[in-house]
Amino acid sequence: MSLDAIVARALAQFAAAPDAAALENAKARYLGKGGELAAFRPSGTAEERRVAGAAFNAAKQRVEAALEARRAALADAKLNARLGEEALDVTLPARGHGRGGVHPVIRTWQRVEAIWQTLGFDVAEGPEIETDWYSFTALNNPENHPARSMQDTFYVDLKDEQGIALNLRPHTSPMQVRYARMHSPPIKVIAPGRTYRVDSDATHSPMFHQVECLWIDEDISFADLKGVYTDFLRRFFENDELEVRFRPSYFPFTEPSAEIDMKLKGRWLEISGSGQVHPTVVRNFGLDPERYIGFAFGSGLERLTMLRYGIEDLRLFFDGDLRFLAQFP
Ligand code: FA5
Ligand code: MG
Repeated sequence: MSLDAIVARALAQFAAAPDAAALENAKARYLGKGGELAAFRPSGTAEERRVAGAAFNAAKQRVEAALEARRAALADAKLNARLGEEALDVTLPARGHGRGGVHPVIRTWQRVEAIWQTLGFDVAEGPEIETDWYSFTALNNPENHPARSMQDTFYVDLKDEQGIALNLRPHTSPMQVRYARMHSPPIKVIAPGRTYRVDSDATHSPMFHQVECLWIDEDISFADLKGVYTDFLRRFFENDELEVRFRPSYFPFTEPSAEIDMKLKGRWLEISGSGQVHPTVVRNFGLDPERYIGFAFGSGLERLTMLRYGIEDLRLFFDGDLRFLAQFP
């Protein structure tokens, strides 16, 4: 076979190689040590080698150039195929994560804070795991007193460094004492936060939120409570004709005491406990009850949210069902 015929066959096989592996096999067949071109390597005298050498080298260069060109072409084709497979259609609508929203109860929390701040109240937060003293004793609710069972408390199976029994606070009222012991009158504070009780039905959940309020000065009366709380409710509900009632009640830490109810779809729903702070509690604030007087209340944030949006079962707040939550974008 002639040199030219071998070159022609090599070029045809390179061109026909479907992928890099086939091409490298073809290369070995022609350019390899024992390959077909090697058989034409010139030999003999120096003069004979010079004459045949030019033709041999030209043939070898053609084969090598064809090999390089095919290698490049196969690499390009491979890259193009991959780009085609991984193509992004930037005009497709994004899958996205949707836009989140603030939970309706947290919205109420924020709204309550904003309103009380405009009324001149400080905002404080305190621990959810409390000592017996702050949750009960300091609030004129002595150990073994039956009023302790008004709230079915979760007790924590731990004691603090001083061996004092701990509980998940059943109300935000411990914050009255914590705050008042660190500030001097006039005291005007709200303390929103999580609270816990062994409770579960359409208007009670084991974890819920309250906002505590305390206003202590030399001349703050029950009339101030009625005035400021009604003002708060009108702002919160953006409604000047709300039906609100103060219903006589009992709390060990207030005297007199009242529950505050509001009307929802013809039914009264309790939103707060309230009253004039009991002298024993004022004394536990570190203040003289002959001089200082005032009121406190604790409102349920879930209840306020139910009334604001007309929700009749508070368990919806905690189910995490997006069909419900997405209605509060
Ligand atoms: C108290 O917790 C008193 N500490 C309130 C208080 C503060 C009275 C200061 C006087 C002075 P009560 O147990 O009524 O009171 O709860 C207050 C409000 O919390 C209720 O009116 C209700 O709105 C809400 N609440 C109580 N338990 C639950 C519950 N399990 N789930 C949702 N909301 C609740
Ligand atoms: Mg109550």
